[in-house]
Amino acid sequence: MTDWGALAAARLDELARISEPGPGVTRLPYTAEHRAAIDRLSSWMRDAGLSVHLDDAGTLVGRREGPAQAGTFYMGSHQDSVRQGGAFDGIMGVVLPLVALERLLAEGTELPFAVEILAFADEEGVRFPTALTGSRALAGAFDPDTLSMTDREGISLHAALQDFGLDPRNIPALARDRGQALGYLETHIEQGPVLERAGEALGVVTAICGIERHQVTLRGTTGHAGTLPMEGRQDALVGAAEIVTAVNALARRTPDLRATVGELNLLPNVVNAVPGEVRMTVELRAPQDMLRKTAGETLGTIVAQAAERAGLEASHWRSYSQPAQACDAGLMARLKDAVAATGGAGMCLPSGATHDASAMADLCPIAMLFVRCEGGVSHAPEEYASPRDLGLATEALCLFLRGLAGDRPEI
Ligand code: GLV
Ligand code: MN
Ligand code: MN
Repeated sequence: MTDWGALAAARLDELARISEPGPGVTRLPYTAEHRAAIDRLSSWMRDAGLSVHLDDAGTLVGRREGPAQAGTFYMGSHQDSVRQGGAFDGIMGVVLPLVALERLLAEGTELPFAVEILAFADEEGVRFPTALTGSRALAGAFDPDTLSMTDREGISLHAALQDFGLDPRNIPALARDRGQALGYLETHIEQGPVLERAGEALGVVTAICGIERHQVTLRGTTGHAGTLPMEGRQDALVGAAEIVTAVNALARRTPDLRATVGELNLLPNVVNAVPGEVRMTVELRAPQDMLRKTAGETLGTIVAQAAERAGLEASHWRSYSQPAQACDAGLMARLKDAVAATGGAGMCLPSGATHDASAMADLCPIAMLFVRCEGGVSHAPEEYASPRDLGLATEALCLFLRGLAGDRPEI
């Protein structure tokens, strides 16, 4: 008898070896590693009887046909990782639904609708300052302006797609027919400690947080660190430090809000010179859009006050924003039943990370299954989900799909 959890673990192990050198997994979109991962996934998909193609946004699509006009149910996640990330974030959500489909077929279950398994190229936004390229394309929400964005080497997204053998001109045509899209289910490692603390292997996501990112620039005056009197200095880093502390305090006193200064660059960045300029990012996340928007406004006040106190010029603009997305109540209920049938409590929790599901919500109802991760660790080489939990997730996915099929008794 096949041990489906062990099979999934072995495949994830194989895919984890497709990485740039260094600790953990580094697999960026439209690279040689991306190509190798696609090749491996494609061969498993073909072996499972799926028809396979790579679309012009770099999404690998494995399709199991259903009756004409019965619609398509989508499952998947992203193939890319952060730099020196783990073996589960994203790619697990491609491997598990494929294994679940193989299990259903092995058991002789035919689904009365088509199923597509999707491996999106770029969810993390690590290579280009944009994200969710493939899922936005399917949802008809791709922004062509992102094609001119460049990576660290100055290669544009447009050029990267072309070098990968894709034609960016075709991306708008990838939008799927809403009338035929039955739903999207993404399986993902939790990336936090909630399930582990509750002793639950699986959880059902209620909503995916909204995100906004701000670029803040503070300009003061540089000068000699020894000769410039403390009185009257315009030290840009002093203003930045106040902002870091204030946004952290804001999030600490606001339930559900997350605020992070993740990037900070200073000029001249020299041991014996007063920092004359700081460029920093502030990222705000919340499951409710109003909460996040209010925090964004408060950030404006924080920046203005910190700049005034330190005698600096400040500019600040919102460079990215993505609304929160609620999961579909009907799919959630079905997923809870499936998790309960595996022996779990069907625990519900929000997602503080973003996912392709948030973009797919523009196309169809979405749901997400979370899998417990050891120590709540993610975006790190130590990221781990046990073969046993992978097996339970496979079982829950099979039960979920059987439940959906039961609603459509025409077959
Ligand atoms: C990516 O996983 C994010 O939540 O930023
Ligand atoms: Mn992810
Ligand atoms: Mn991630």
